[in-house]
Amino acid sequence: MFFSKLATAAIFLATSLAGPLGAVAASSGEEHQLAKRGNGVHLVNCVTYSALVYCANDSNCNFNPGAGNECIPRDHLNGSGLEVWEQSGSCRFDTGTTFSWTIQSNAQSQPNFSIVGSGTNGAQGFTIRKDDQHVMYTDGNGHACRSIYYAL
Ligand SMILES: *[C@@H]1O[C@H](CO)[C@@H](O)[C@H](O)[C@H]1NC(C)=O
Ligand SMILES: *[C@@H]1O[C@H](CO)[C@@H](O)[C@H](O)[C@H]1NC(C)=O
Ligand SMILES: *[C@@H]1O[C@H](CO)[C@@H](O)[C@H](O)[C@H]1NC(C)=O
Repeated sequence: MFFSKLATAAIFLATSLAGPLGAVAASSGEEHQLAKRGNGVHLVNCVTYSALVYCANDSNCNFNPGAGNECIPRDHLNGSGLEVWEQSGSCRFDTGTTFSWTIQSNAQSQPNFSIVGSGTNGAQGFTIRKDDQHVMYTDGNGHACRSIYYAL
């Protein structure tokens, strides 16, 4: 009994050490992936418009979301038709879910993946981080859709 408890403690210790050490050793891209767990919402710019993209599994999110998982914000658009994300806003998906967010006005001047705001879908709170503007997918009109922020 004593030894099995010790073994369990050793495994627990090894597991808890692997997390932080692994994260430190990982490249920023891998760290980014490690940070991405569960469902998420990406705030994306697609050249001429912006969209919120819901991902049931945020680790597997680089595809055209389809109508039900995409929400096009209509308020706070700039002269290019892109959403000015760095304020409070909300968007109602066709599914009836409304995602609301607040992002710091200086978010773009902060490092990639830093926490810059928060969001909610009414049932669950999200932490919003600055993304690295990787292309998530190309829409039906050939517009590259880049992830500007992500909410987990
Ligand atoms: C989420 O996607 C990742 C990457 O494709 C995969 O490894 C993982 O098993 C998926 N998780 C779930 C719960 O489907
Ligand atoms: C709209 O916002 C995008 C992203 O911040 C920026 O690149 C673009 O220059 C802006 N366009 C105008 C007209 O302000
Ligand atoms: C964020 O990542 C992108 C892509 O790797 C890079 O081009 C950009 O310089 C980074 N920005 C900051 C503020 O680190």
